[in-house]
Amino acid sequence: MKELKSGVYWVGATDWIVRHFHGYELSTHRGSTYNSYLIKDEKTALIDTVWEPLTDRFLENLSEVTDISKIDYVVMNHGEPDHSGALPALMEYIPNATVIVSKKGLESIKKHYHKEWNFKVVSTGDKINIGRDDLMFIEAPMLHWPDSMFTYLSGKNILFSNDAFGQHYASSSIFNDEVDETEVYQEALKYYANILTPFSRLVIRKIDELKKLNVLIDIIAPSHGVVWRKDPMMIIEKYYEWAAGHSNKSVVIAYNSMWGATHKMAEFIGKGLGESGIEYKIFNVATADRNDMVAEVFKAKGIILGSSTVNNGLLTSLLPLIEDLIGLKFEKKVGSAFGSYGWSGESPDILIEYLNKARIKVIWNGLKIKYMPDEQELQECIAFGKNFAEKMLAEM
Ligand code: FEO
Repeated sequence: MKELKSGVYWVGATDWIVRHFHGYELSTHRGSTYNSYLIKDEKTALIDTVWEPLTDRFLENLSEVTDISKIDYVVMNHGEPDHSGALPALMEYIPNATVIVSKKGLESIKKHYHKEWNFKVVSTGDKINIGRDDLMFIEAPMLHWPDSMFTYLSGKNILFSNDAFGQHYASSSIFNDEVDETEVYQEALKYYANILTPFSRLVIRKIDELKKLNVLIDIIAPSHGVVWRKDPMMIIEKYYEWAAGHSNKSVVIAYNSMWGATHKMAEFIGKGLGESGIEYKIFNVATADRNDMVAEVFKAKGIILGSSTVNNGLLTSLLPLIEDLIGLKFEKKVGSAFGSYGWSGESPDILIEYLNKARIKVIWNGLKIKYMPDEQELQECIAFGKNFAEKMLAEM
């Protein structure tokens, strides 16, 4: 079994197969892992479990490093089923073990499993001595559930950060220095963009709090993906940068089109952006992966939405992305909208209403073109792109 440091083992489960998470809400192109860690000191402590379907593998991994009946403490940093799913099966072996939870964790674990285990509620700064070392707890509410908590292992200087700093990434090694780090950072950013964006202010506060604690961190061990063993502070600095809302000088154009006119507008708006030195990416929302688009929006300063008008409204395929734009509460973004129409032409106005609702600053009026754009109208699209670029640069 993989050892993080002497007496600290990874006992989780690698899921090479999973391609959807949170039901079917989040794509996981590179699989995932559910990380659980066993600490053998004078007492034996387990940090988190795994998703219920992988319980057997988890128990096998656990048995390789310990007699399960010897576990004294089970720390549940978070109650979401991907980390607590195997808890009921585990507790059958150790009904008297202490289950350590935050105050909100007590509620979430009880309401998920309806069991009266031997719970111990901890708060930030509380410590439990397990022999040579201590477990110290740091509540991290809304990163990303109210119950979320980090656990720090003194002596070994390991921060078990649960979902924070995680990535949906299955790999042959659990360590960041033994895998393709470019892929890992792509997945870490996608994870942040799709899950943690609304909580960015709390992320900054939590990182500041961690720094003030002045504890040495040799390893960050999240509950998904690789363990940050090499340069662990780099992912903390990345989180700080991401939470601060720094954007690239780039634009995402996300659209759908019935007969290609709105598509053509997208291409020529892009041309105008490109001629202004702005990097852009175009996505047809009906075929692109929504979570990949969210990751691109996260990186970009601008978002331009396009839709043909149908039934006095939008093509429905725009709505899932729009729901994400509203729910994820991106900060410091700018936007506009466009679309072709046959007779009524409401879609750019509706899209702009949605941008306002998502608190994305509309910096240029929507553009609508009747049926298929002619040469002059294509020039209008190029001009739209150029004007948008100029306004966007003024906002940076
Ligand atoms: Fe990975 Fe919030 O569970």
